[in-house]
Amino acid sequence: MRTIHYKDKKLFFENYKIENAVNSFPTPFYLYSKQKLINNFLSFQQTAKEYFDMPEICFALKANSNLELLKILSSQGSGADIVSGGELIRAINAGISPKKIVFSGVGKTKDEINLALDRDIMSFNVESAEELMLINKLAKHKNKVANIALRINPKVKALTHKYISTGYKTHKFGLLEKDLLGIVNDDTFWTSSKLVGLSVHIGSQLTCLEATKKAIQQISDCANKISTKLEFIDVGGGLGVNYSNDQKPKAPTLNEYMIAIRDNLKVNYPLKIVFEPGRSIIASTGVFVSKVLRSKQSEDCHFIIVDGGMNDFARPSLYQAYHEIYPSKDCNQKIETDIVGPICETADCFGEKRMLPKLKEDDFIVIADTGAYGHSMSSNYNLRSKPIELLINNDHSLIQIRDKQNLETL
Ligand code: LLP
Repeated sequence: MRTIHYKDKKLFFENYKIENAVNSFPTPFYLYSKQKLINNFLSFQQTAKEYFDMPEICFALKANSNLELLKILSSQGSGADIVSGGELIRAINAGISPKKIVFSGVGKTKDEINLALDRDIMSFNVESAEELMLINKLAKHKNKVANIALRINPKVKALTHKYISTGYKTHKFGLLEKDLLGIVNDDTFWTSSKLVGLSVHIGSQLTCLEATKKAIQQISDCANKISTKLEFIDVGGGLGVNYSNDQKPKAPTLNEYMIAIRDNLKVNYPLKIVFEPGRSIIASTGVFVSKVLRSKQSEDCHFIIVDGGMNDFARPSLYQAYHEIYPSKDCNQKIETDIVGPICETADCFGEKRMLPKLKEDDFIVIADTGAYGHSMSSNYNLRSKPIELLINNDHSLIQIRDKQNLETL
């Protein structure tokens, strides 16, 4: 649940007065709550434990790869779902044991595979026969045995934005069941590789569990057709969050999500369940704060121009994603406002036709639930430096956990 509220007309995030951060650091910035991150992780873990023996929670680094935040997750026992050599190094630097790292992605390079082989990671989640051939060959060169979880493509259409739906046959991800079983039964793939699991991930920001249920049934059927006893089933990530105050349908609760998995997982023997959540853990732990530069009126269109842009926070421009936007001051007199950034594209818009008070220079806005796929997707487009990141500690002190990284100086 989001905890942004007004107290004495001032905006608070997790009981921290946001104005304090605005007065001390350059905007725009991301602001995270340590306590909320810990709470979110622990509730995911504890709920999983109510339904499964020894679940492994491998946080998806792509959602947020800030080193300090990962150290917090690591200290709570998180593993990692990674998709690049960079993320592998980051996870290890955050203190996450390679024994808790799964490596997903369709395009692993030789260098990345070698790096992961050297660290003896928990598993390569393999997405094609060609990839497995390469891993097997590289493992052989190193006299090692690679742990493999084959990713199934269950041919289900997950109800979400089409860019982040990944479980249908037209998507590049995973192996169709017949191809997967063909690989399992072909000894040439397994000379230096060992099948330890199956994995599935059908998409992100899932607010309906029907496709998830079908995918879990399929992965169970598939596991039961394999004579090798698997160590784990990796059910991927994808659990959605409520971005809008009146979002319909509402995202499933953790209990509903776990029940959907438990009730549809029918493997003939006990095995470990691995989860790869990203958004459901970290989205609500962060906000994006941006100062108003000026306002502008074009006939009946009212704009406020803020100092953050689509390079800093891309979700609205990339996926037409809705995020709640809170003005630094609240009053009853409101006008329909478009909140736009400085970048030379009409897509550089955080919210259209939002009812906001008239804001002026140095007021600020707070975009909610930007902890996931916020900073991790930011870029230097327009030669802008990336936003800094700040963390609210449990004692309400504030620390900077990423620099501005200016691109060049005169
Ligand atoms: N595992 C795999 C294999 C994935 O591809 C992903 C996300 C996850 C786990 C984590 O999914 P989550 O629990 O966060 O939904 N940039 C997009 C989201 C891209 C998701 C890509 N894969 C956005 O801002 O909505």
